[in-house]
Amino acid sequence: MPSLLKEKIKDRSAKLGIIGLGYVGLPLAAAFTDAGFKVLGFDIQEKRVNSINSGKSYIADVTSDRLSAIVVDRVLEATVDQSRLGEVDAICICVPTPLTKTKEPDLSAVIHESEEISKRLQRGQLVVLESTTYPGTTREVVLPILERSGLKAGSDFYLAFSPERADPANETYNIQNIPKIVGGIDPQSTRIAALLYSQVAEAVAPVSCPEVAEMTKLFENVFRSVNIALVNELAQLCERMSISVWEVIDAAATKPFGYMPFYPGPGLGGHCIPLDPYYLSNKAREYDFHTRFIEVAAEVNEQMPYHVVSRIMEVFNSHGKSLCGAKVLVLGVAYKKDVEDIRESPSLKIIQLLGERGASMRYNDPYIPTVQHDHDVLISTELTDKCLSSLDCVVIATAHSCYDIEKIVASSKLVFDTRGVTKGLNGDNIVRLGE
Ligand SMILES: NC(=O)c1ccc[n+]([C@@H]2O[C@H](COP(=O)([O-])OP(=O)(O)OC[C@H]3O[C@@H](n4cnc5c(N)ncnc54)[C@H](O)[C@@H]3O)[C@@H](O)[C@H]2O)c1
Repeated sequence: MPSLLKEKIKDRSAKLGIIGLGYVGLPLAAAFTDAGFKVLGFDIQEKRVNSINSGKSYIADVTSDRLSAIVVDRVLEATVDQSRLGEVDAICICVPTPLTKTKEPDLSAVIHESEEISKRLQRGQLVVLESTTYPGTTREVVLPILERSGLKAGSDFYLAFSPERADPANETYNIQNIPKIVGGIDPQSTRIAALLYSQVAEAVAPVSCPEVAEMTKLFENVFRSVNIALVNELAQLCERMSISVWEVIDAAATKPFGYMPFYPGPGLGGHCIPLDPYYLSNKAREYDFHTRFIEVAAEVNEQMPYHVVSRIMEVFNSHGKSLCGAKVLVLGVAYKKDVEDIRESPSLKIIQLLGERGASMRYNDPYIPTVQHDHDVLISTELTDKCLSSLDCVVIATAHSCYDIEKIVASSKLVFDTRGVTKGLNGDNIVRLGE
């Protein structure tokens, strides 16, 4: 049985199913079609499915030109019809793993999709979970649901966890050149999943079990969260001591070993770094273990938008002005530069907090035409000289590459820079986080 699937993978006749066609699933589907596989994509959003089938991409990392070529060649088809899960040889699950309001892991999409697969599970199929989750999910949650089919993992079908490590809008690293970690529930599952991913990734790193693969992904994101918190805390100390944190970071980065630069900012955003650590801290409690670094990092990072807002208030006070009634524009609302993703964006929190303190809020983001604010919909304001000079403050929250920072500073009365992009510019109208 495994040799049949192996042969189909090797000669590219295996058909792949990818569930969840978002930031992770759609680029993965495109990568497999580029490698010569037929892909059937599944999503619950009919709008997304129709968009893919008409060659229109909604994810920047897969252009519409590329998508329409794939769709015209009939190597990618999208569907909402889960009964077609039985048509494919291997299935990658790329559905969201959010948190509940009380920051508990919400595995409902993973569970639902495992149930859908289980109803149609075929002998010899490979199932890989890619969604970020706590160690134990593949074995404790997915496996028992799949075995309700009456088939046995490891002998009748294959099961592995392989975390997605992609970084949207990263021009250097992508699915091809980021090593793919694979941990199967048995050696055969690991080998088959590794063979599959080696068709699209230059390097595959097999590990001994799904738990190691699951923990590795969380460790990578906790590492980022903790280091960002460290530099965010240092930035606040530097402000008190009148030292520039940006200069300190640049100086430290001259050390050729033992140091890696992280930068302060207005807080964490995106679907990964602000959420994933909670998957680990929640699971740790089952073992009477408190992950203190995760908690402290979350506390420091989540308080950053509040810190930014209190600094802006201080600046207004020092000029004898009031934030209440002031016209403030937040520059960049995507959670990081050059992406169209606003999930968990600290810019939204800053807009909310400044609005609650009486400021009249607007924003600009070339990637985000509208945002919801306090029962209203804000529309991205055009950045004309006239508009900039009419504002009381511009808050640089996300410095997209297309922004002409020098020009924006020259036209503005006051710029509060949370990203250090005005470094090197002088002007009484510039105030930077971390200085
Ligand atoms: N975005 C990233 O940069 C990134 C990087 C690494 C890992 N991850 C992880 O990958 C997973 C997916 O994240 P994403 O950013 O691609 O999410 P996303 O929201 O961009 O895409 C998820 C897609 O799944 C669909 N979906 C939701 N429930 C479904 C269901 N039950 N059945 C079928 N489709 C369903 C949604 O409609 C959406 O199109 C998450 O676990 C995330 O933590 C994300």
